[in-house]
Amino acid sequence: MFGVADITLEMLERDPYPIFSKLRDQEPVAFLPRLDMWLVTRWDDVVDVCEHPELFRSNTVPSWLRDCLGENMLTLDGAAHDRLANGMRPPFVSSTALPIVRDGLPALYDALIDQFPAGEEVELMAAYAEPLANLSLAAALGWTVDWHDLARWCRGVCTGIANFENDPDRAEVAAVAHRELADAIDAALARGELAIYLRHGFTRDEIVNNIRLMVSGGINEPRDGVALVMWVLLTEPAAMAAVRADRSVLRKVIEETFRWISPVGTATRQATSDVILGDVQIPEGALVAACLSAANRDPRRWQDPDTFLIDRREGSHLAFAIGEHRCLGEWLGRRQVQLGVERLLDRFVDFELTRPVELTGFEFRGPAALYVKAVGR
Ligand code: HEM
Repeated sequence: MFGVADITLEMLERDPYPIFSKLRDQEPVAFLPRLDMWLVTRWDDVVDVCEHPELFRSNTVPSWLRDCLGENMLTLDGAAHDRLANGMRPPFVSSTALPIVRDGLPALYDALIDQFPAGEEVELMAAYAEPLANLSLAAALGWTVDWHDLARWCRGVCTGIANFENDPDRAEVAAVAHRELADAIDAALARGELAIYLRHGFTRDEIVNNIRLMVSGGINEPRDGVALVMWVLLTEPAAMAAVRADRSVLRKVIEETFRWISPVGTATRQATSDVILGDVQIPEGALVAACLSAANRDPRRWQDPDTFLIDRREGSHLAFAIGEHRCLGEWLGRRQVQLGVERLLDRFVDFELTRPVELTGFEFRGPAALYVKAVGR
């Protein structure tokens, strides 16, 4: 039998896909002692976990997310969740987004491209994808905040969420971000910004905690999405040629990239009672990681799942999850990736990868850096 007991977080972060493949075949609902957590890797089981909050709750105890951000929509289930999610959604859907999100994002992205060093190597994550994601979230919320501060707070709260070993230095970094974010949101509310959330009847704490969630979960993903799609285009010449010939193909490239390398790897839940999944009993209170990225390569749903194929016919993927916690920023996230990549393709006739690219991460996956040389028009 395959050595489930030996699987470490480090192995999953390096490359989870060969491990997912074995788990799906041999132990699709597996307890990993090193992670003290169950991993669910087949499409049908992942969907089951996400769609049954009465069996697998987001309101976990303990909860790193709640400790770091305060109670928020992702730490609640049922009606309490729905009230927050419904009221927080308007800035993130096309019909109610602010005009700048509908018309102004390309200009923000162009201003970043204008600062690329002419004719020289540029690291796209730092020079483009990261500021793009921060600026977009601030624009969507109508929040006049310096994107560098937003990026620092994002790193701070994410450090806290990933502080599995209770390192006091990391806890301090997270505490500073937690505090500074609350102060900045208070100042914004005092200036009359974020007023939509007051109009929806949310308390100050509800606004602060849920914006902390957006900062921790709504910046790194579109950043990685932009970088992943650019990496795919630069390493799959047929995809780049198809997009250059017909810009409408980009939408398919984005969806297939999200399936193939999902920026968010898991949705983590807690069993509310002893529950049978597949033919395995998961005990009450156990933590269960529904592996979205494993489901997105399950051969029971996808033909030739490890291959990037633009013209797939199998239907939608799970990169934005499914069920009541399906991504709140899905429309905005897709828009950032689409417009962010389009601006690069419009502004440059050619790109060359100048250094090898390493993808890392289990919970969050993307390139650590993406060095390119761009040839201007
Ligand atoms: C483009 C890349 C993005 C990807 C791949 C992504 C992925 C996900 C996934 C998989 C979840 C479910 C997590 C779970 O069930 O545990 C989620 C939830 C969430 N995402 Fe995104 N996301 C993206 C962009 C964004 C953006 C731009 C925002 C902006 C605010 C955002 C805000 C949220 C929020 C607030 C939730 C919690 C929803 C709830 O609990 O009802 N995401 N996202």
